[in-house]
Amino acid sequence: MKIDGKTRFAGVIGWPVNHSLSPVIHNHWCKKYGIDAVYLPLPVQPENLSEVIPALAKMGCVGVNLTIPHKELVLPLIDAVDDVALRVGAVNTIDFKSGKYWGYNTDAYGFWHNIEENTRDLRKDTALVIGAGGAARAVVCALHDAGFQHILIMNRTREKAEILCKLSSQAKVIEWDIATNALEKADFIVNTTSLGMKGEQPLTLALEKCKDNCLVTDIVYTPIATPLLQQAEERGLATINGLGMLLYQAQKAFHHWFGILPDVDETLRRLVLIKE
Ligand code: ATR
Repeated sequence: MKIDGKTRFAGVIGWPVNHSLSPVIHNHWCKKYGIDAVYLPLPVQPENLSEVIPALAKMGCVGVNLTIPHKELVLPLIDAVDDVALRVGAVNTIDFKSGKYWGYNTDAYGFWHNIEENTRDLRKDTALVIGAGGAARAVVCALHDAGFQHILIMNRTREKAEILCKLSSQAKVIEWDIATNALEKADFIVNTTSLGMKGEQPLTLALEKCKDNCLVTDIVYTPIATPLLQQAEERGLATINGLGMLLYQAQKAFHHWFGILPDVDETLRRLVLIKE
């Protein structure tokens, strides 16, 4: 590609950031839609974040994504945050439009859009959320906004699940050890923990108790077919993998910066999987 004085730039701030797949995704879309911009990985230590954000704005940066450990740390630096970012307590996208720092959380959109694009007739009665970390906050907001009547949260550390419950009037904590009842009731199960990720222990649930039309999803996408999803498929349940959440959160960020809602298609999925 040709880079000249008119080329704009965006990027992802993380520490570390070399694992990020966002450059592959956004550079693919810039090329596809003929946008004269590049998207860079930006390794920034947490203690430098408050200097880096204004410096990027002054350099004409279009906007940035934020990943671990910056999503919460960046909040006090932002001029205006959207409703979801405020509720989730984390910003994953900044837009530097009109000299201001606009903060968004596109993770909740990414999570739910991935589900909506891949299902029909999902019963929105009972959702079971496993985990209560940063990612679970976006998931619980998304499930609340999608209209689930009951959002059951189970986490190894119960106190964190109790804090998460405050995000939704529909949410309730259940004990990690006695989830059988919840598994029987669930229309939708989502793993938000790191269990099942490459190098981690698997998450195994008593899925034989589940309803036949229960949908199982995982936000882990390394590997694409996590042990939980494999177990669900063996049980005959519908599954959705976590790659789409990554792609759809990027879609919304790209839209904020460049005004185009880019396609999440097979070419992109293949590209990301090759890189991964
Ligand atoms: P993220 O931002 O990706 O959500 P996080 O905030 O560190 O990451 O949260 C990780 C989640 O995975 C937490 O719910 C954590 O449970 P605890 O709150 O008890 O720490 C969960 N988790 C990580 N390792 C786990 C394990 N071995 N068994 C059960 N839960 C685990």
